[in-house]
Amino acid sequence: MTGEQHNLTPTTPQTPPPTMGSSNHDGVAPHHGDATHDVRHWHPATQAVAAGRPPRHQGAPVNPPIVLSSTYVSTGTPGPNELLYTRIDTETWHPFEEAVAALEGAPVPGVVFGSGMAALASVLSQVPDGGTLVVPRHAYQVSLGFAEDLHKRHGVQVIKVDIDDTPAVLSALNGAHMLLIESPTNPMLEVADLPTLIAAAHQAGATVVVDNTFATPLLQQPLSHGADYVVHSATKYLAGHSDVVLGVVCAADHQRRALVHNYRTLHGAIAGPQEVWLALRGLRTLSLRVNAAGANAMVLAQRLAEHPQVAQVRYPGLPQDPGFATASATMSGYGAIIAIQPTGDAHSVDRMINALTLWTPATSLGGVESTLERRRRFTTESLTVPENLIRLSVGIEDVEDLWADLDQALRRITSESA
Ligand SMILES: Cc1ncc(COP(=O)(O)O)c(C=O)c1O
Repeated sequence: MTGEQHNLTPTTPQTPPPTMGSSNHDGVAPHHGDATHDVRHWHPATQAVAAGRPPRHQGAPVNPPIVLSSTYVSTGTPGPNELLYTRIDTETWHPFEEAVAALEGAPVPGVVFGSGMAALASVLSQVPDGGTLVVPRHAYQVSLGFAEDLHKRHGVQVIKVDIDDTPAVLSALNGAHMLLIESPTNPMLEVADLPTLIAAAHQAGATVVVDNTFATPLLQQPLSHGADYVVHSATKYLAGHSDVVLGVVCAADHQRRALVHNYRTLHGAIAGPQEVWLALRGLRTLSLRVNAAGANAMVLAQRLAEHPQVAQVRYPGLPQDPGFATASATMSGYGAIIAIQPTGDAHSVDRMINALTLWTPATSLGGVESTLERRRRFTTESLTVPENLIRLSVGIEDVEDLWADLDQALRRITSESA
């Protein structure tokens, strides 16, 4: 896709289809990007910095303002693109929605949500009652919980597949309404063959949703492979500083965008203006952060693979990793999440985690600081995730400090349990 085909910056009003809401006002107000900036022809690192800036004129602010107003002056019948009420739309969301859409190569602005789960819900709920949803066995556990809820309350048949087993996914697609792809998966780091799966799903008549949280649009652009929706937990890399909870959906066209926008309005699944502004500030350094964290992750994965107290490493950037070939073909980098299984059991792994002084034991990922977690500490985590598996979210600290801390903790716990 060329940038020219996907220029969002002119403020042309959009004409989405009629919505399901109680109001004719679909709230898709025009996005006011800087018309002097056609960001789509620039490289992604530049887009992350330049997209969504206010119109450039003498004395204009360099950053968009935060507008704190729940309502807008309005009389009579609201125009289709008029800002009316902040649950429907507010201008503080627009720069972030434009910037993420530019990065994902979406032809229409993104739709920001109050969390990644709200963003996912807006698309997963499109599966009709009694329909079929195909999901990765090792998707984020709460995404699987949402699918389970669709099953219980709406009779949706949920088929779990190993998303890196392409033939198995293809055979599950027959009669499916939707395919959710998460790649790499959380926490097993399996890599999906996006072009093949998306093409096959479309041939089977299924809508394709890709959770691109781990890869970020810098490393993987699912819309360019034909996906219908890309979803992010913007809480992670997009915002990048572990200080906001946020989600965003990028749709492949106006119709699909209108559906998720309408869901957001009906469910009130909105984000606060300050959070979205903070996420935009974080997004400015996405390229620096993703590159630095990815470089650290590569070094750490290589060293962990040689560590005597590490039995298994999953990182798609290691040539011996099962996801290496697919990731090399479909991604432009391998990300900064690593999964390891130390030689010890879950208890010794918990002690190892407590012996760390730099790495922070915490859930979530994608911040500048390195965090880690034994995922099976949650009883809701998939039972096929090994009990002693640790998910590492590598940050941007000096790699030698990260390594020294990990190494001492791994060695100490092993000698304690020996
Ligand atoms: C891959 C993935 N998708 C979606 C989510 C949900 O995002 P949020 O926590 O912002 O609701 C998460 C959260 O950890 C995640 O890791």
